[in-house]
Amino acid sequence: MMLKNRQDAYGHLVSDYLKKGRGQEIVEREDGLLDPSRTGPACYLAEFRSWAAHERKAMRFVKGRVLDIGCGAGRVALYLQKRGFDVSGIDSSPLAVKVCKLRGLKDVRVLSISEIGVKLGRFDTLLMFGNNFGLFGSFRRARWLLRRLYQVASDDARIIAESTDPYKTRDPIHLAYQKVNRSRGRMSGQVRIRVRYRTYMTPWFDYLLVSKREMRSIVAGTGWCIERLIDSAGPQYIAVVRKKLETGFF
Ligand SMILES: C[S@@+](CC[C@H](N)C(=O)[O-])C[C@H]1O[C@@H](n2cnc3c(N)ncnc32)[C@H](O)[C@@H]1O
Repeated sequence: MMLKNRQDAYGHLVSDYLKKGRGQEIVEREDGLLDPSRTGPACYLAEFRSWAAHERKAMRFVKGRVLDIGCGAGRVALYLQKRGFDVSGIDSSPLAVKVCKLRGLKDVRVLSISEIGVKLGRFDTLLMFGNNFGLFGSFRRARWLLRRLYQVASDDARIIAESTDPYKTRDPIHLAYQKVNRSRGRMSGQVRIRVRYRTYMTPWFDYLLVSKREMRSIVAGTGWCIERLIDSAGPQYIAVVRKKLETGFF
Protein backbone atom coordinates (compact mmCIF):
# COMPACT_ATOMS: atom_id res chain seq x y z
CA MET A 1 0.00 0.00 0.00
CA MET A 2 1.44 3.36 -1.03
CA LEU A 3 1.78 5.89 1.77
CA LYS A 4 0.00 9.24 1.51
CA ASN A 5 2.21 12.31 1.86
CA ARG A 6 1.14 12.97 5.48
CA GLN A 7 1.93 9.33 6.33
CA ASP A 8 5.39 9.38 4.78
CA ALA A 9 7.29 10.19 7.98
CA TYR A 10 10.36 8.21 7.02
CA GLY A 11 10.49 9.77 3.54
CA HIS A 12 10.24 13.32 4.90
CA LEU A 13 12.92 12.51 7.47
CA VAL A 14 15.49 11.32 4.93
CA SER A 15 14.50 13.97 2.39
CA ASP A 16 14.97 16.79 4.93
CA TYR A 17 18.18 15.23 6.14
CA LEU A 18 19.53 15.17 2.59
CA LYS A 19 18.65 18.88 2.14
CA LYS A 20 19.32 20.32 5.61
CA GLY A 21 21.49 17.76 7.41
CA ARG A 22 19.14 17.46 10.37
CA GLY A 23 16.01 15.64 11.54
CA GLN A 24 14.88 13.36 14.35
CA GLU A 25 12.99 10.09 13.86
CA ILE A 26 10.60 9.10 16.65
CA VAL A 27 9.21 5.60 16.98
CA GLU A 28 5.95 5.44 18.94
CA ARG A 29 4.88 2.09 20.37
CA GLU A 30 1.25 1.26 21.12
CA ASP A 31 1.90 1.23 24.89
CA GLY A 32 2.82 4.92 24.66
CA LEU A 33 6.60 4.49 24.61
CA LEU A 34 8.28 7.20 22.52
CA ASP A 35 11.69 6.20 21.31
CA PRO A 36 13.84 8.88 19.67
CA SER A 37 16.23 7.07 17.36
CA ARG A 38 19.78 7.21 18.77
CA THR A 39 21.51 6.86 15.45
CA GLY A 40 19.27 9.32 13.58
CA PRO A 41 18.81 9.66 9.85
CA ALA A 42 22.57 10.03 9.32
CA CYS A 43 22.89 6.23 9.42
CA TYR A 44 20.30 5.87 6.63
CA LEU A 45 22.56 7.87 4.30
CA ALA A 46 25.87 6.63 5.67
CA GLU A 47 28.80 5.60 3.52
CA PHE A 48 30.08 2.01 3.78
CA ARG A 49 33.03 2.98 6.02
CA SER A 50 30.59 4.23 8.71
CA TRP A 51 28.36 1.15 8.73
CA ALA A 52 28.40 -1.25 11.68
CA ALA A 53 31.00 -4.03 11.37
CA HIS A 54 28.40 -6.81 11.04
CA GLU A 55 26.74 -4.96 8.13
CA ARG A 56 30.07 -4.56 6.34
CA LYS A 57 30.86 -8.25 6.91
CA ALA A 58 27.50 -9.29 5.44
CA MET A 59 28.38 -7.65 2.10
CA ARG A 60 30.70 -10.63 1.42
CA PHE A 61 27.64 -12.82 0.91
CA VAL A 62 26.03 -10.65 -1.78
CA LYS A 63 26.12 -12.10 -5.27
CA GLY A 64 24.40 -11.72 -8.64
CA ARG A 65 21.22 -9.73 -9.12
CA VAL A 66 20.15 -7.95 -5.93
CA LEU A 67 16.79 -6.76 -4.57
CA ASP A 68 17.05 -4.32 -1.65
CA ILE A 69 13.75 -4.61 0.23
CA GLY A 70 12.84 -1.43 2.13
CA CYS A 71 15.90 0.28 0.66
CA GLY A 72 15.26 3.57 2.50
CA ALA A 73 17.60 6.33 1.32
CA GLY A 74 19.51 3.71 -0.67
CA ARG A 75 22.81 3.44 1.21
CA VAL A 76 23.19 -0.33 0.64
CA ALA A 77 21.83 -0.37 -2.92
CA LEU A 78 24.06 2.56 -3.90
CA TYR A 79 27.12 0.89 -2.37
CA LEU A 80 26.43 -2.25 -4.43
CA GLN A 81 25.55 -0.34 -7.61
CA LYS A 82 28.93 1.42 -7.39
CA ARG A 83 30.57 -2.00 -7.20
CA GLY A 84 28.93 -3.10 -10.43
CA PHE A 85 26.04 -5.16 -9.05
CA ASP A 86 22.72 -5.19 -10.88
CA VAL A 87 20.63 -3.87 -8.00
CA SER A 88 16.96 -2.91 -7.69
CA GLY A 89 15.43 -1.16 -4.70
CA ILE A 90 11.86 -1.16 -3.46
CA ASP A 91 10.31 0.85 -0.66
CA SER A 92 6.78 1.76 0.41
CA SER A 93 7.82 5.38 0.96
CA PRO A 94 7.44 7.54 -2.18
CA LEU A 95 9.77 10.22 -0.81
CA ALA A 96 12.46 7.70 0.16
CA VAL A 97 12.32 6.40 -3.42
CA LYS A 98 12.70 9.99 -4.68
CA VAL A 99 15.73 10.42 -2.38
CA CYS A 100 17.26 7.21 -3.81
CA LYS A 101 16.77 8.56 -7.34
CA LEU A 102 18.32 11.93 -6.41
CA ARG A 103 21.28 10.05 -4.98
CA GLY A 104 21.77 8.14 -8.21
CA LEU A 105 20.09 4.77 -7.71
CA LYS A 106 19.07 3.64 -11.19
CA ASP A 107 16.38 1.06 -10.51
CA VAL A 108 14.14 1.90 -7.58
CA ARG A 109 10.38 1.93 -7.23
CA VAL A 110 7.56 2.39 -4.75
CA LEU A 111 6.44 -1.09 -3.80
CA SER A 112 5.57 -2.84 -0.57
CA ILE A 113 7.28 -6.09 0.46
CA SER A 114 3.89 -7.79 0.15
CA GLU A 115 3.67 -6.76 -3.54
CA ILE A 116 6.96 -8.39 -4.61
CA GLY A 117 6.25 -10.78 -7.45
CA VAL A 118 7.74 -12.47 -10.49
CA LYS A 119 7.15 -9.35 -12.62
CA LEU A 120 10.32 -7.95 -11.01
CA GLY A 121 12.29 -10.92 -12.34
CA ARG A 122 14.46 -13.29 -10.32
CA PHE A 123 17.10 -12.34 -7.79
CA ASP A 124 20.23 -13.98 -6.38
CA THR A 125 20.31 -11.82 -3.24
CA LEU A 126 17.42 -10.31 -1.28
CA LEU A 127 18.52 -7.69 1.24
CA MET A 128 16.66 -6.66 4.38
CA PHE A 129 19.06 -4.27 6.09
CA GLY A 130 18.41 -1.78 8.88
CA ASN A 131 16.43 -4.32 10.93
CA ASN A 132 14.18 -4.99 7.95
CA PHE A 133 13.48 -8.59 8.98
CA GLY A 134 10.97 -6.58 11.03
CA LEU A 135 8.95 -5.89 7.87
CA PHE A 136 7.76 -9.51 8.04
CA GLY A 137 5.47 -8.24 10.82
CA SER A 138 4.40 -11.45 12.52
CA PHE A 139 5.17 -15.18 12.65
CA ARG A 140 2.44 -16.06 10.13
CA ARG A 141 3.11 -13.17 7.77
CA ALA A 142 6.84 -13.91 7.84
CA ARG A 143 6.26 -17.49 6.70
CA TRP A 144 3.81 -16.33 4.00
CA LEU A 145 6.28 -13.72 2.73
CA LEU A 146 9.24 -16.13 2.83
CA ARG A 147 7.29 -18.46 0.54
CA ARG A 148 6.51 -15.56 -1.79
CA LEU A 149 10.17 -14.49 -1.83
CA TYR A 150 11.03 -18.08 -2.76
CA GLN A 151 9.19 -17.51 -6.06
CA VAL A 152 11.42 -14.57 -7.05
CA ALA A 153 14.64 -16.18 -5.83
CA SER A 154 17.12 -17.95 -8.10
CA ASP A 155 18.08 -21.55 -7.28
CA ASP A 156 20.93 -20.73 -4.90
CA ALA A 157 19.66 -17.35 -3.74
CA ARG A 158 20.20 -15.81 -0.33
CA ILE A 159 18.22 -13.49 1.88
CA ILE A 160 20.51 -11.33 4.01
CA ALA A 161 18.38 -9.90 6.80
CA GLU A 162 19.01 -7.97 9.99
CA SER A 163 17.03 -8.40 13.19
CA THR A 164 17.36 -7.45 16.85
CA ASP A 165 17.05 -9.96 19.69
CA PRO A 166 14.21 -8.51 21.80
CA TYR A 167 15.26 -10.51 24.87
CA LYS A 168 18.59 -8.70 25.16
CA THR A 169 17.11 -6.02 27.38
CA ARG A 170 16.59 -5.47 31.10
CA ASP A 171 14.31 -2.48 30.62
CA PRO A 172 11.17 -3.25 32.68
CA ILE A 173 9.01 -1.33 30.17
CA HIS A 174 10.13 -3.59 27.32
CA LEU A 175 9.85 -6.74 29.47
CA ALA A 176 6.30 -5.81 30.53
CA TYR A 177 5.32 -5.13 26.90
CA GLN A 178 6.74 -8.48 25.81
CA LYS A 179 4.71 -10.21 28.52
CA VAL A 180 1.51 -8.51 27.32
CA ASN A 181 2.37 -9.61 23.77
CA ARG A 182 2.75 -13.25 24.82
CA SER A 183 -0.48 -13.13 26.79
CA ARG A 184 -2.39 -12.10 23.65
CA GLY A 185 -0.75 -14.75 21.48
CA ARG A 186 1.77 -12.50 19.76
CA MET A 187 5.51 -13.05 19.62
CA SER A 188 7.37 -11.20 22.40
CA GLY A 189 9.07 -8.92 19.88
CA GLN A 190 6.05 -8.28 17.66
CA VAL A 191 5.91 -4.56 18.32
CA ARG A 192 3.04 -2.40 17.14
CA ILE A 193 4.53 0.95 16.20
CA ARG A 194 4.27 4.00 14.04
CA VAL A 195 7.09 6.20 12.83
CA ARG A 196 6.77 9.94 13.45
CA TYR A 197 8.68 12.91 12.13
CA ARG A 198 7.44 16.45 12.74
CA THR A 199 3.69 16.24 11.94
CA TYR A 200 4.06 13.22 9.66
CA MET A 201 3.14 9.79 10.95
CA THR A 202 2.88 6.38 9.36
CA PRO A 203 -0.16 4.20 10.04
CA TRP A 204 0.31 1.72 12.89
CA PHE A 205 2.08 -1.45 11.78
CA ASP A 206 3.53 -4.62 13.28
CA TYR A 207 7.29 -4.87 13.28
CA LEU A 208 8.90 -8.16 14.24
CA LEU A 209 12.02 -8.47 16.39
CA VAL A 210 13.18 -12.06 16.89
CA SER A 211 15.85 -14.06 18.66
CA LYS A 212 18.00 -16.40 16.57
CA ARG A 213 15.99 -19.38 17.83
CA GLU A 214 12.71 -17.74 16.87
CA MET A 215 14.12 -16.91 13.45
CA ARG A 216 15.01 -20.57 12.94
CA SER A 217 11.46 -21.65 13.73
CA ILE A 218 9.99 -19.01 11.39
CA VAL A 219 12.24 -20.09 8.52
CA ALA A 220 11.73 -23.86 9.00
CA GLY A 221 9.64 -25.42 6.24
CA THR A 222 9.44 -22.29 4.07
CA GLY A 223 12.05 -23.47 1.57
CA TRP A 224 14.82 -21.46 3.22
CA CYS A 225 17.46 -22.34 5.83
CA ILE A 226 19.79 -20.26 7.94
CA GLU A 227 23.31 -20.60 6.57
CA ARG A 228 25.14 -18.22 8.88
CA LEU A 229 24.55 -15.69 11.64
CA ILE A 230 26.70 -12.59 11.92
CA ASP A 231 26.77 -11.04 15.39
CA SER A 232 27.22 -7.42 16.32
CA ALA A 233 28.42 -5.93 19.57
CA GLY A 234 24.78 -5.35 20.57
CA PRO A 235 21.45 -7.18 20.20
CA GLN A 236 21.40 -6.79 16.40
CA TYR A 237 22.53 -9.62 14.16
CA ILE A 238 22.37 -10.50 10.49
CA ALA A 239 21.14 -13.82 9.16
CA VAL A 240 22.34 -15.19 5.84
CA VAL A 241 19.44 -17.37 4.71
CA ARG A 242 19.89 -19.80 1.83
CA LYS A 243 17.31 -21.19 -0.55
CA LYS A 244 16.93 -24.94 -0.18
CA LEU A 245 16.36 -26.87 -3.33
CA GLU A 246 13.88 -29.38 -2.02
CA THR A 247 10.53 -30.54 -3.19
CA GLY A 248 7.51 -30.99 -1.02
CA PHE A 249 8.43 -28.54 1.72
CA PHE A 250 5.06 -26.84 1.65
C1 LIG B 1 14.71 1.28 9.06
S1 LIG B 1 14.54 1.78 7.39
C2 LIG B 1 15.89 0.84 6.65
C3 LIG B 1 16.36 1.42 5.37
C4 LIG B 1 17.53 0.71 4.70
N1 LIG B 1 17.27 -0.69 4.45
C5 LIG B 1 18.81 0.88 5.46
O1 LIG B 1 19.32 -0.13 5.99
O2 LIG B 1 19.31 2.00 5.52
C6 LIG B 1 13.09 0.85 6.91
C7 LIG B 1 12.63 1.12 5.50
O3 LIG B 1 11.59 0.19 5.18
C8 LIG B 1 10.55 0.86 4.47
N2 LIG B 1 9.30 0.10 4.63
C9 LIG B 1 8.45 0.09 5.68
N3 LIG B 1 7.43 -0.75 5.45
C10 LIG B 1 7.64 -1.28 4.22
C11 LIG B 1 6.94 -2.21 3.42
N4 LIG B 1 5.81 -2.77 3.85
N5 LIG B 1 7.44 -2.54 2.21
C12 LIG B 1 8.58 -1.97 1.75
N6 LIG B 1 9.30 -1.07 2.47
C13 LIG B 1 8.84 -0.73 3.69
C14 LIG B 1 10.53 2.24 5.10
O4 LIG B 1 9.89 3.19 4.27
C15 LIG B 1 12.02 2.50 5.28
O5 LIG B 1 12.56 3.07 4.13
